[in-house]
Amino acid sequence: MSTPRGQFSSRIGFVMAATGSAVGLGNIWGFPTQTASNGGAAFVLVYLVLAFLLAYPALMAELVIGRHSRSNVVSALGDISKNNGVRKIGVGVGFCGVIVASLILSFYTIVAGWMLAYLTESATTIVGFSSASEWLTTQGETRNLIFGGIFAVLTMSIIGGGVEGGIEKWSSRLMPILIALLLALIVYVMTQKGATEGLKQYLLPDLGQISDPKLIISALGQAFFSLSLGVGTMLVYGSYLSKDESLPRLGAIVTVVDIGIAFTAGLLIIPAIYVAQHNGVQIYSEQGNLIAGPDLIFQVLPSLFSSMGAIGPAVSLAFFALMSIAAVTSSISMLEVPVSLAVEKTQASRTKATAIIGTIILAISTIIIFNFEALFGLVIKVTTEFSQPLLGIALCLFAGWVLRRDYLLAELKNGHPNIENTLFWKIWPAYVRIFCPALILLTFYHSVVA
Ligand code: PFF
Repeated sequence: MSTPRGQFSSRIGFVMAATGSAVGLGNIWGFPTQTASNGGAAFVLVYLVLAFLLAYPALMAELVIGRHSRSNVVSALGDISKNNGVRKIGVGVGFCGVIVASLILSFYTIVAGWMLAYLTESATTIVGFSSASEWLTTQGETRNLIFGGIFAVLTMSIIGGGVEGGIEKWSSRLMPILIALLLALIVYVMTQKGATEGLKQYLLPDLGQISDPKLIISALGQAFFSLSLGVGTMLVYGSYLSKDESLPRLGAIVTVVDIGIAFTAGLLIIPAIYVAQHNGVQIYSEQGNLIAGPDLIFQVLPSLFSSMGAIGPAVSLAFFALMSIAAVTSSISMLEVPVSLAVEKTQASRTKATAIIGTIILAISTIIIFNFEALFGLVIKVTTEFSQPLLGIALCLFAGWVLRRDYLLAELKNGHPNIENTLFWKIWPAYVRIFCPALILLTFYHSVVA
């Protein structure tokens, strides 16, 4: 319990870490493909509205609680209230967050392992090891275990390094590379035939779909997943933030960067799909839908890369490096949720806590790998579509009702002394108490239950 807590060394360090968490496979794969299969720009529009109206206020709730309490998610929610009943609820919500973060990490590890396998395959193709390439691109339990394991070890070694020496250092190194790779790939894909057709598909809205409940729940789930909300990630990152920083401003930066990169990733993925079609690759399934699931990343795009001639393996290497980087800067934030709890609640050192928890989560990934059909989709659905929005509601209620108003104001004043005169203070406190939870619930009910 006596372990000193880490802290981000600078504003930019926090921004890199928090955007690193937010920008992940959800941005580069999830957002573009959801857009493509949900009416193009209609989805983008709904997403933008939900991200600003519901996800940003919820993000602020996490940042405020985190920095106020300066502790892991369970203690943070438990200690806000003196009332015993509310305290128990807080501890319960905190534990749910820890479990959901761990479950998200367990499936994320599997998907990230695929990315690493394809990254390695691009290298083996460049050096001409074709039998290795064949094995690396064939779905198999052994391959998935090995590469999931490598990814888990990568994640653990960064988290073992602590807040400044691990999370901040690696996010600050990797995020600029991610942006450079993304932009370079867009420039290249745009020079290819068929790209403009993709751009049109991406940017022209099919407004007929805008009120489709499926579209709305997809956009809500995507917004919460993309901003890493509901599971305590942002709360914990906020707890490592200096009192000199303005929370509303930093929260806005993280939201805008996350949305910006998701949108930019669409400028790569959707045109790439249409370039693939131009090169003779099949991009629609037998039912006539655009191929958007794993087959997009592991069949359509690889076929595109191989149709590109000599430069193909290099483009493929850049693409899977982009995916792997996006994955690791997000996975570290998920692992930090249980690790920070263990380090602050037990005598274990950070290294030991990281190794034990990382291994347990890898064991869960292994169970999913061996029961793939039954578990993979189920875990994703339960964690991202149900748990994240519902826990998001709980966090809004804690920030709005349980955290005392004077504490809330004092916390927001840190780094933003004139907060009382801002629009933010006039709107957000009431908003996070009533409107935000009600709107999330309504959207959720309308789309899932009704
Ligand atoms: N935001 C990440 C992405 O878009 O891929 C996923 C994520 C990270 C979800 C961290 C939840 C989390 F706690």
